[in-house]
Amino acid sequence: MKVIYLDNCATTRVDDEVFDAMLPYLRDDFGNPSSPHVLGKRARRAVDSATDSVAALLGASPESIVFTSGATESNNIALLGMFGHADRAPVNALFCPTDHKSSLAIGRALGNRGIDIRTMDVRPDGLVDLAGFAERLDVHSRVATVAWVNSEIGTIQPVAELAALSHAAGCLLHVDGAQAAGRVPISVAGAAMDTLSISAHKIHGPKGIGALYVKPEIRRRLHPTTYGGGQYELRSGTIPTHLVVGLGKACELALRRLDADWERATRLRATALELLTARLPGVRVNGCPHAGVPHILNLVLPGVRGESLVASLHSVALSTGSACNSASQEPSPVLTAIGVSPEDANSSIRVCLDPGMDEEELVRGIELVCERAESLADVVVAMQGAR
Ligand SMILES: Cc1ncc(COP(=O)(O)O)c(C=O)c1O
Repeated sequence: MKVIYLDNCATTRVDDEVFDAMLPYLRDDFGNPSSPHVLGKRARRAVDSATDSVAALLGASPESIVFTSGATESNNIALLGMFGHADRAPVNALFCPTDHKSSLAIGRALGNRGIDIRTMDVRPDGLVDLAGFAERLDVHSRVATVAWVNSEIGTIQPVAELAALSHAAGCLLHVDGAQAAGRVPISVAGAAMDTLSISAHKIHGPKGIGALYVKPEIRRRLHPTTYGGGQYELRSGTIPTHLVVGLGKACELALRRLDADWERATRLRATALELLTARLPGVRVNGCPHAGVPHILNLVLPGVRGESLVASLHSVALSTGSACNSASQEPSPVLTAIGVSPEDANSSIRVCLDPGMDEEELVRGIELVCERAESLADVVVAMQGAR
């Protein structure tokens, strides 16, 4: 049975062009890019060309790109690397409470080491409160970190403004761009960010590969977190040519499709929202749709438990929030941080669209979601009546 996939923030299908580009480097051209012989040179050329494609998507120079295993590792290399082992408060770092666990957990680890961790204020539309942000900065602020596009509600943070405020206080800005790549135009220089993480599997590339952009001027301020052969100063280990090639091709396609994908996602989102609001009474959008990407639609379906809905659908894949939080019984921390009540948060679902999907397929998927939501809501009403 074909599954209708509406969970494209958790991961995406590898694009056929990406898959085809990767294959030769698993078979015939399997050389180590650090080897001086003919196979090594072929692999090196492929890595260099993929680096150019990644740099082009980010508006960066190829020298500023470090390959990692994904956005989690990129966030770790950037954020841990900005602190020395002896650093303690008053040295501080600013974290955004609606960010992904791969940033928030680093904040907790730094806090346990004695760094002063400060939490940004987030408004009901999901945007960081800029006045509150400026107030939390001082001469001891080392780094502020924010996810450019929120993975649950799609809010696009004003990274250029956050970078300007950070720099005015002598603080660096790290940006988690895992959900931004392929969705918003990226210019690391334009937005003046210091470090930026991306991940291939969020943009139709393979799992297990990502990149970290490091502004050349701040490179010396980062300490490596692991040591080895020095393939990249900040991240050692044999370069996985096939994965790097996959990331490069995914970046090339993302850049080429950026504008068309935005338009298409906007149309698909309107279709999904129209169907859901017409059929299910009281449906509301979480966050502010005007401050977000059209690819992500987070909705309250009153009277329906989001987790029950997600688990009971056999031919539609969607989620209640970040895949990393889905094992937790707690309401989504992202939704509660923007003021959604625990009850509404538990009745919420996240639809993440692939702009390349068929509209008919989306309509069928939403119909199935509505059918199941109606039957689950009926069960709740019947149970309430029986009490
Ligand atoms: C905003 C954000 N940051 C980081 C990650 C982690 O990315 P990766 O799976 O590449 O480690 C995710 C994945 O969901 C994400 O949405």
